[in-house]
Amino acid sequence: MRNLFEVDAWKIMEHGFDPAKQQHAESIFSIGNGVFGQRANFEETYSGASLQGSYVGGVYYPDKTRVGWWKNGYPEYFAKVLNSCNWIGINIEVDGELLDLNVQKPRAFYRELDMQKGILTRRFKVKFSQGKELQVESLRFCSMDNDEIAAIKFTVTPLNFDGNVKFTPYLDGKVHNHDSNYDEFFWEEDSHKVDVQKGYLCTTTKKTKFSVATAMRFSFWKNEELLTIHPNCHARAFYVENNFEHFLEQGNSYVLKKYVSVVSTVHHSETSVIPRAINHVRDAYTSGFDVLRSAHESAWKKLWEKADVVIEGDIASQQGIRFNIFHLYQTYTGKHAQLNIGPKGFTGEKYGGATYWDTEAYCLPFYLKTADPEVAKQLLLYRYNHLDRAIENAEKLGFKNGAALYPMVTMNGEECHNEWEITFEEIHRNGAIAFAIYNYVRHTGDASYLMEKGRKVLNAIARFWVQRFNWSKAKEKYVLLGVTGPNEYENNVNNNWYTNYIARWCIQYALDCENSYAASSKAQLSRQEIEQWTKLVDAVYLPKLEGTRIFLQQDGFMDKEQRTVADIPAAESPINQHWSWDRILRSIFIKQADVLQGLYFFEDHFDALTIQENFDFYEPKTVHESSLSPCVHVVLAALIDRMDKAYELYLRTSRLDLDDYNREANEGLHITSMAGTWLSLVEGLAGVRIGQNGLTINPKIPKSWNVYRFQVLYKSQPVRIEVNHHKASILNAGNVPLKISVKGKMYTLEPNESIIS
Ligand code: BGC
Repeated sequence: MRNLFEVDAWKIMEHGFDPAKQQHAESIFSIGNGVFGQRANFEETYSGASLQGSYVGGVYYPDKTRVGWWKNGYPEYFAKVLNSCNWIGINIEVDGELLDLNVQKPRAFYRELDMQKGILTRRFKVKFSQGKELQVESLRFCSMDNDEIAAIKFTVTPLNFDGNVKFTPYLDGKVHNHDSNYDEFFWEEDSHKVDVQKGYLCTTTKKTKFSVATAMRFSFWKNEELLTIHPNCHARAFYVENNFEHFLEQGNSYVLKKYVSVVSTVHHSETSVIPRAINHVRDAYTSGFDVLRSAHESAWKKLWEKADVVIEGDIASQQGIRFNIFHLYQTYTGKHAQLNIGPKGFTGEKYGGATYWDTEAYCLPFYLKTADPEVAKQLLLYRYNHLDRAIENAEKLGFKNGAALYPMVTMNGEECHNEWEITFEEIHRNGAIAFAIYNYVRHTGDASYLMEKGRKVLNAIARFWVQRFNWSKAKEKYVLLGVTGPNEYENNVNNNWYTNYIARWCIQYALDCENSYAASSKAQLSRQEIEQWTKLVDAVYLPKLEGTRIFLQQDGFMDKEQRTVADIPAAESPINQHWSWDRILRSIFIKQADVLQGLYFFEDHFDALTIQENFDFYEPKTVHESSLSPCVHVVLAALIDRMDKAYELYLRTSRLDLDDYNREANEGLHITSMAGTWLSLVEGLAGVRIGQNGLTINPKIPKSWNVYRFQVLYKSQPVRIEVNHHKASILNAGNVPLKISVKGKMYTLEPNESIIS
């Protein structure tokens, strides 16, 4: 696969402007700060094809559902993350002609995302129709230091003339969603105000009534000298602007510094959002661009100290892993309990900015190993805070007695996805939410969440499973009928092995926790529940291929025509774009890890031969048409020493969006699968596990790398790991002794002590 952007260890770079690549680039160069984010749309007008996107975490609209046949139990709406006020806007005019790169074709166009510092830069030269030439540079960031602030430095230099240029910094709330089901406009205006060199606009979502106040202030400079200007102030509904003409002298740089604050009722009261935005932007203006920038860069520096992965010897892999880590932290910082991680983060509209099982299954382990435990705990609390809604959701489907079914897709705890085979049947998501609690405890050693809150969630999930199983007289086992496993290329199957397995595990885990904590905390299960659940876990049906170690994905799996991905003609791949749904459903092809997802979660329940046999059975049938799939395969392939396969799939996941493998990065990036990439490296290649016996490391290294190093947090202690072709070095960089197993040998490492193995 060829690299679509220049390869560099810390930067993503684009030389030359290609309008056909613009929407892909808008996704790749997106910036955010965990609270709001922005696609790399241009500040100035751009009349070419573009996906305008400015998103505020947690602000959504319940777009009316569009389905063919309505089914009882369907949610009324599909939540949309909203394209909200465009705060980047700065128009430039020369002799009445707008700067627009779709009209004046730029020269020396250069775009750069500095991932170390979180800064987006763009530079180019243009010639207007009268022959006047400008050099333009823009630099912007969404502050990681103050997550309600952004700043832009927009510099214009006349190259061959002295003359007037018009500047129009503005805020525009009249923005639409491309994916609106009924072409609805989702916003109402609350208020706006414009004044000299400042203004604000507050808009409110229809129905959900989220208000977003966006305030701006700006200053204008000639080189280093602050200029006094007398702009015209102009406003109309959903829009405020200042405009002014200034006489520019050839060869001098004129700099417009625009400060913006974005404050929403997701985090503040309705009455406070406007004053807060105004105060923030005033403070930002007073501090100045350089001070804000350096605070922002320091915040990134701190994050990178914990989360960076260094790879020497393969620059494309180095860039790929940093790109993934960078976007994950731009999307979620764990500072706010209301927020979560949408599969596209702040880079596109698809998947509605909503929460999926992706968070617990893929993202949580990343935050557990790279950030303070509070960050991962916020993700657990998010689900705890939605427990009542999950119980209501289950009640709507006929479950009772406090059984909870967490939604497949949600913004506020309510289900907002409506395809019956997923909404009602892809119930395995409940398992990942329970597994996340277990994962949190084993990583951090902190059982305080589990004792009270965690158990409530676990028990409600277990109640759901207990009611969802039914006794099969024919099999003399408990079975789960009518489900969809992680592999969405099968719907409405019976006894999906993964779902049955994780369901049984959830019930057992709930029982174990009751056993451990009922005395010290408080009993949460009745005696009758304990008896019934214990009986059930002993008799759950788990389909298996007789005479082998292979777990069958579902009942009847062997009736399918047995083929492998190698049998699919290249022209028919990806099958989801070439085959009818009917053909896909009947085929053996697997969208994403399913049985293997279970072996990944519960690796310590199985021996190496079982993992190997299942991997060899399922991998050749898997088309990886979900971006969440390759990472699980990398971890298992590395475990069973298939390093070539592991590396091949690792490359596919780590540069999925950068090189646009799926040809859809124009719609936004695969943020949640970026966590999967990180898992592929840390759990896959480096073989890091947090198991019953503590931290274990079984490192391997791809042939083309010289060395790689990173840090993980285990029980809040940093452990630094470096791997090359001859040895692995492990340093306990924390302040308490740690037991660590490296390549099967157990060590106790004192603080600051390292071992070389
Ligand atoms: C995958 C799901 C995933 C969703 C959002 C789908 O294509 O099959 O497992 O939750 O995308 O990432």
